[in-house]
This record gives sequence, C-alpha cells and structure tokens, in this order.
Amino acid sequence: MPIDPYDFTGRTVVVTGGARGIGRAIAHAFAAVGADVHVFDRDFGEDMAGAFTLHQIDIADGQSVGQSVATLPKPPSVLVNNAGITRDRSLAKMSDDEWGDVLAVNLTGAFNMLRAVAPAMTQAGYGRIINITSINGMRGKFGQANYAASKAGLIGLTKTAARELGGKGVTVNAVAPGMVMTEMAKELPIEILDRALAETVTGRLATPEEVAACVLFLAGETSGSITGQVLQVDSGQYL
Ligand code: NAI
Repeated sequence: MPIDPYDFTGRTVVVTGGARGIGRAIAHAFAAVGADVHVFDRDFGEDMAGAFTLHQIDIADGQSVGQSVATLPKPPSVLVNNAGITRDRSLAKMSDDEWGDVLAVNLTGAFNMLRAVAPAMTQAGYGRIINITSINGMRGKFGQANYAASKAGLIGLTKTAARELGGKGVTVNAVAPGMVMTEMAKELPIEILDRALAETVTGRLATPEEVAACVLFLAGETSGSITGQVLQVDSGQYL
C-alpha cells in the first residue's frame, strides 16, 4: 500500500504562533488531516477553544518552553516554528529593545522550541521541523534590520539542525513567504500592499492556506529526503 503523505492520524503536531494568521491556517490544515494539534501562543481568542490543545506561553522563555513541551501527551512528530513579530524602524533609529525583542522571539524562540523537541524526535528516529522564515531574511528590507537578521539567522539554524539531526530521521526545512494576505496585512497602508503586489509575477499575493499547504508537504512522511531547504512561497516576489 502506498503511504498517504497527508495522513497525520496519531501524529502530535506543535505549531507556535497558531492563534492567528499563517499559524492558524497551519494548525487548521494539520487538524483537518487527523493530527493532534498543540498550539503554543502568547494570546488566544475565545474562538480557538475546542479545536486544538492550547498552551499559553512565551516562546522566548526557554524554561517555559521546556516545561510546556514536557506536558505533551506524546512526543511530537512535527514542529512548526511559526511565531514571529516585527518592530520595524530604520537602522539608525532602532532601539535596543526593538532589536532584542525581535531576535528573542523570531530566532531564540525557534531555537528554544527546537532544542526542547529534538531529543524526543531523535529518540523516536522520526521528526519533521519546519521554520517559517521570510524572503526578507534572504534579500533584506528597508526598516527591517532586526527582522531580516532574525529570519536570516533562522535559515542558518535550519541548515545546522538539518545536518545535526538528519542521521536520526529528522528533517529540518524552512518556508519563506513573501507578503501574505493575513488580517494583519489587510490593515497595512495600501501603498505597501501595492508595492508587494507589483513585485509578484503571478499578480496576486499568497494566502495563509497556500503557505500551510507547503508546510504540510514538507511535514509529510514521503518528504524524508528533503532537508536543509528553503521553500519560497512568495508569488515570485523575490525571484
Ligand atoms: P501574526 O502576527 O498574525 O501571528 C503571529 C502569532 O505569533 C500571533 O498569534 C502571536 O500571538 C504569536 N506570538 C508572537 N510572539 C510570541 C511569543 N513570544 N510566544 C508565543 N507566540 C507568540 O503573524 P503572521 O503574519 O501570521 O506571520 C506568521 C509567521 O510568518 C511569522 O514568523 C512571520 O514573520 C512570517 N511571515 C509573515 C509574512 C506575512 O506577510 N504575514 C511574510 C513572511 C513571513
């Protein structure tokens, strides 16, 4: 019988920042294919209740991450490091806090999660880790020194973890979205959306569901020979 790569029945999946936006679409996508989905987030709306197991946590706090991972009913097969923040400001005006907060969540947070789940995955001889980076970590972006550095760092972390964990059946990849039509993006000034749209070759921006579909593909059992890669989901914005 061929393996169904999209059957996640019995698999424990952890998604950080799954309370809204892209993370929420990822959490829904995994739940729809049978996974036991655990969402790690700082804040939850009331409409989250029931669908997933919620863990209220700041991923920048390594100790809390370790404690929350230890409460999972089963060792996770899949980790999606999706939580991320922006604090945009031009280089010369950027404060220590704006720099530090973004690095703490986007890069250290992902490291904390990876370090906490990796032992169980290597022991099981199976795991899929997907880190949500950004095309701005690859090309740089005016006003995003902190964000671009954190997302570029996440790519370095992805490749190193891929090398360290590959021999134990654990793959580590990154997905790099361009501008995605989240609720947050819809609130951006129209000029910014127009500029992103003008960069695309498809004439439209990606949806959260399209990013989720790529994450599911990389998390599938049949994607075991793909590791250390960065998959751009950006409508050709950074081509
Ligand atoms: P969002 O702001 O809508 O959602 C982020 C989620 O992360 C929120 O639920 C928030 O509460 C959670 N979060 C933030 N800090 C946290 C912390 N310290 N601990 C736990 N949870 C925390 O963001 P969006 O747009 O859905 O983005 C998701 C990921 O995709 C981020 O990593 C972002 O950098 C990346 N991305 C987004 C793009 C976009 O156009 N929306 C483009 C490229 C990358």
